[in-house]
Amino acid sequence: MRQIRFENVTKSFDGEEIVSGLSLEIPAGKFFALLGPSGCGKTTILRLIAGLEFVDSGRIFLGDKDITHQPIYKRRVNTVFQQYALFPHLSVFENVAYGLRIRREKEIIIRDNVFDVLKMVHLLGFENKNIKSLSGGQKQRVALARAIISQPEVLLLDEPLAALDQRLKEKLLIELIELQDVLKTTFVYVTHDQAEALTVADKMAIMNSDGRIEQIGTPKQIYEFPVSRFVANFVGNTNIISGKLLEKDGQPMVEVKGLGNVYVFIQSQKNWMILGCNLFVSVRPEKIFISKKEISGFSNHLQGRVENIIYYGRSTQYTVMLKNGKKIIVFEQNEEHFPQEVIDYDDIVNLYFQKENVVLLQE
Ligand SMILES: Nc1ncnc2c1ncn2[C@@H]1O[C@H](COP(=O)(O)OP(=O)(O)O)[C@@H](O)[C@H]1O
Ligand SMILES: [Mg+2]
Repeated sequence: MRQIRFENVTKSFDGEEIVSGLSLEIPAGKFFALLGPSGCGKTTILRLIAGLEFVDSGRIFLGDKDITHQPIYKRRVNTVFQQYALFPHLSVFENVAYGLRIRREKEIIIRDNVFDVLKMVHLLGFENKNIKSLSGGQKQRVALARAIISQPEVLLLDEPLAALDQRLKEKLLIELIELQDVLKTTFVYVTHDQAEALTVADKMAIMNSDGRIEQIGTPKQIYEFPVSRFVANFVGNTNIISGKLLEKDGQPMVEVKGLGNVYVFIQSQKNWMILGCNLFVSVRPEKIFISKKEISGFSNHLQGRVENIIYYGRSTQYTVMLKNGKKIIVFEQNEEHFPQEVIDYDDIVNLYFQKENVVLLQE
């Protein structure tokens, strides 16, 4: 079931098209993430859903209802912004109660509801506190409580954790996932941080800097099978090599200048995958096995010299220079189940990877 549908939506500011012919479906009751670089139009899209901006052309549906021209107060949509947007002179309780007070709910209902949502965001006991005395993370929890108390159909989250430090961010991401699980409200989470989007999303959309959506899918689909160079580079790290699609003994492979052949597995045939075409292959750094030994059983084998090693604790990153001058990044998990091979600067190493882990990308 879908919750929100954009139908060919266009929006300009000062004569510049920010959203151009956007068509997008956001599923109901799921955690949906919209990921894209700064300035690509993510906030504009949220503001169109909220009714803070209106389209130049096209339509927006909430469920089956056309809300294109509906004013903000008629939409059951709430937003949590990056800046906390709380009332600094009101207590936590009154900040959260605000929406219900405006609706003139009974005091007893307000109390019950405020305590319910404060519990959900782990702020019981904070109701009488002054907003100014709260930390950034606590303020954002108040903003969340205030947004969910009126039971919106859709909760919009515009980079809500961007101002918080990494550890707190990770903690709140988990809390958000748990909250969505309990509420089953449609969450639309906007971010420019790919790790955040991968963590929270049931489904995600990737926008490029022109404001076009390049791919929609589960985090796993997006990560494992990016459809473009932009997506492959923007979500996670990858190695991209250019070459020509050919066939050898009936097997598809990509001929790379000055390097040799990379065997590939064509998951789904696309119309641009024509023998002889120029294209790119993408191989994730963790899909490559690095060793000084000769090992059989891999479809692909490249050789190079170790140029750089970065120890990350959990993993180590190697930069390997191939003979054609191309640099390849490799991640190795630092498992200690058995003694690991020692690899050093300037060592000549073999890089192995399977053809199933090579993704073909259009030139
Ligand atoms: N109200 C506005 N008036 C003029 N330009 C705007 C307005 N809102 C957004 N923009 C412009 O639209 C572009 C996209 O902005 P925004 O939607 O905030 O992107 P994002 O949230 O992805 O960073 C930016 O170039 C921004 O300057
Ligand atoms: Mg923004």
